[in-house]
Amino acid sequence: MLAEGLQFPHPVPTQIATVTSELVRNVRQYADHGELELRPLTSPLGIEVRVTDHGPGIANLNEILAGRYRSQTGLGLGLLGCRRLMDGFVVHTTPGLGTCIVARRFISDPFSAN
Ligand SMILES: Nc1ncnc2c1ncn2[C@@H]1O[C@H](COP(=O)(O)OP(=O)(O)OP(=O)(O)O)[C@@H](O)[C@H]1O
Ligand SMILES: [Mg+2]
Repeated sequence: MLAEGLQFPHPVPTQIATVTSELVRNVRQYADHGELELRPLTSPLGIEVRVTDHGPGIANLNEILAGRYRSQTGLGLGLLGCRRLMDGFVVHTTPGLGTCIVARRFISDPFSAN
């Protein structure tokens, strides 16, 4: 609803909802509980999805983001898929302390000259 209100074109609000759902699902699955923050961005216009937990952290993040990870619990493609759907995708994680993922999508391409 927030993405629709910001006038993201179809099907971007659905993509953002999919990313939000997957990141929250991971928190429920691997870290038990955490926090979700959704906020509009103004310059450039867009949306930020921030998911934070104090679970076990992700020790093998590089392997996962390189597509070399074999998951015991799922397809092992959730984080990679989220990254592809967003313009910015940063994972801060420390084993034993937790994980914070900040994913951003902009209304127009922030890197284009127009
Ligand atoms: N918030 C988290 N805290 C701790 N570990 C995590 C967290 N999110 C992901 N992981 C770890 O990263 C791995 C990859 O996550 P990813 O979402 O890419 O795949 P998956 O959840 O295994 O499978 P699926 O494709 O069904 O999402 C997980 O298997 C899990 O070990
Ligand atoms: Mg997952």
